[in-house]
Amino acid sequence: MDIGILGTGMVGYTIGTKLVQLGHNIKMGSRTGENEKTEAFVRTNEGRGTAGTFEDAAAFGEIVFNCTSGGASLHALKMAGEHNLNGKILVDVANPLDFSKGRPPILIPEYCNTTSLGEEIQKKYPLVKVVKTFNTMNCNLMVKPDLVPGEHDIFICGDDSVAKAKIIKDILHPIGWHGPIDLGGITAARSMEMILPLWINITGLYQTPNFNFKIVR
Ligand SMILES: NC(=O)c1ccc[n+]([C@@H]2O[C@H](COP(=O)([O-])OP(=O)(O)OC[C@H]3O[C@@H](n4cnc5c(N)ncnc54)[C@H](OP(=O)(O)O)[C@@H]3O)[C@@H](O)[C@H]2O)c1
Repeated sequence: MDIGILGTGMVGYTIGTKLVQLGHNIKMGSRTGENEKTEAFVRTNEGRGTAGTFEDAAAFGEIVFNCTSGGASLHALKMAGEHNLNGKILVDVANPLDFSKGRPPILIPEYCNTTSLGEEIQKKYPLVKVVKTFNTMNCNLMVKPDLVPGEHDIFICGDDSVAKAKIIKDILHPIGWHGPIDLGGITAARSMEMILPLWINITGLYQTPNFNFKIVR
């Protein structure tokens, strides 16, 4: 499948590289279309990995991943172009964190409690099928669930059930994520994003990003 990745940070690089390994063609998008991170991605994934602007990546992908900085995601999506996104699945991995006052970051107030980044993206792009997943863990674990021993959970939400089913079958299962917990419509993005302060506390406490949540009942 042709997949567009918006974002050149560690998340875009890690997910993009894994998807190339799974046989997909990936175009990684950035603001300028070319920087040292996209160059490294193309070099590592020669043949199946290419790079371009956010617009190029969105136009290329049958599915598009949002791996941009949460506070800038709406700007990045605007640059990608609504016409390049309409009708497609947008997998939203971003977290609306503000690092401007140092660490630990805070949740950006406009994107929490009564809304979320996932919901704001869905509101702004009603013809795009926004599926939120992967955002509750470190990117290395996203693509390698066995970095953490035993059973543990990944969450998913979104208004379009067919889109969620496709992401589960074509992306999560091949990576090794079985039985994702479907939290329902895109409003569940609130809880998936607001778990981040807890995640940040735990990574500080145990001095590792290699842990995950497990729901026991
Ligand atoms: N790090 C993790 O393990 C992890 C885990 C879960 C979720 N997340 C979330 O995943 C997302 C990506 O994280 P990351 O650490 O890989 O990268 P990041 O540094 O948060 O974001 C990098 C991307 O954001 C774009 N960007 C920055 N400012 C922008 C602006 N003003 N307008 C448009 N685009 C802008 C950059 O564009 P250029 O390429 O042009 O510079 C780059 O592609 C974040 O939302 C993060 O919260 C991260």
